[in-house]
Amino acid sequence: MNTYFSELGKRVYARWEKENFSLEAFPAIATKALTEKPPAKHVDLKALMSDFLLKDEQSFQTSSGFGQPELIVYDNPKFYIQLLFWLDGTTDIHQHGFSGAFHVMEGSSIHSEFEFLNPLPVTAHFRLGDLKLKKTGLLETGSTVPILSGNGCIHSLFHLETPSVTVVVRTHSDPGSSPQFTYLPPHVALDPVKEDALTLRRKQLLDAMERTGDDRYASLVNTMVGKLDLERGFFILQNCMGHLRAIGAWERVWKTFAKKHGKAAVMISPTLDEIVRRDALVAMRSSIEDVEHRFFLALLLTVPDRERILAMIGERFPGKPSTTIARWAGELAITTEGGTWILDACFPEDLQVADEEQIPLFLGALDHLIQGGKPPAWLAKFPKVFKSLRESLSNSSWRVLIR
Ligand SMILES: [Fe+2]
Repeated sequence: MNTYFSELGKRVYARWEKENFSLEAFPAIATKALTEKPPAKHVDLKALMSDFLLKDEQSFQTSSGFGQPELIVYDNPKFYIQLLFWLDGTTDIHQHGFSGAFHVMEGSSIHSEFEFLNPLPVTAHFRLGDLKLKKTGLLETGSTVPILSGNGCIHSLFHLETPSVTVVVRTHSDPGSSPQFTYLPPHVALDPVKEDALTLRRKQLLDAMERTGDDRYASLVNTMVGKLDLERGFFILQNCMGHLRAIGAWERVWKTFAKKHGKAAVMISPTLDEIVRRDALVAMRSSIEDVEHRFFLALLLTVPDRERILAMIGERFPGKPSTTIARWAGELAITTEGGTWILDACFPEDLQVADEEQIPLFLGALDHLIQGGKPPAWLAKFPKVFKSLRESLSNSSWRVLIR
């Protein structure tokens, strides 16, 4: 048992008891306790890790899949304190079924807060609406942020260092605050713990058909999507769109879905596109370890406009933000057997350009599109190449930065 956290837990308990365990009072009590004697300054993490591994006298542990891993360092029937390690995980955009406060004990994170406007319940577990970013900022080591249950506090974290460690002082669960929605920008909210075993098994069966190259795949998915309700149809599309696109069957299935669900489909389409984009960027996060690159990735993942991205880079790094971006692009550009890539933008295969020339051309086009100014010398000679590179970059996460 760690004495710092036992003492923190007792202090929070005593203060909360004085407030008759009022749920409304808890976030402020937890925030104050974490701020006045911050774990970032007072906890010896290495000693805590050894103690956790070597001594059996520990708090009650859960089997939660949240954190990499989650350690409970204090528990009582009213609330508990968890330590969350983060290696390559970025949290989904989510709200909470509990309240309290979190503290950045090691590392730093990009923290983004959202609101969900015009919510339209489709089922108790699935909503449509408009997710809007309220603010994004950097949380340095030692920062503490209150957590309110329900949709008043929708947020996501992108951890920059490996590992990042967060301390959460939290209630077990607040009555009336479920489901703990996860948000898929720009338009979907869903309950991540809702069990629909039939849909799960159907997705797994479709995955098995995909892997075995079953030629009934596309037509069966098309028939399913034509029959299923909006929520289940969405989950089938989400599961199958990658393979449907790869086999050239996406357009047909999408038309079936759009015909069945009319207006609602207009909100589903950009949400599916955004899932593809975010999945690609999040997957890169596990292979990109440089803190500057992770910072940039987090901005591309969350901030939807050019000026705010440039401002945030300008606050953290000296020099012109667009010059910093050009340097990062150069460091991130790679040529593999699968082609030349700068993040999720691929050098078009049909251009017939020698491998070693692809990166300089790609970077030249990108720099011109972001900074404006003087076009690269080759542009006048190869306007078609430039057009094609611009198209590829405009279909990638770079589009937000292109003038
Ligand atoms: Fe959270």
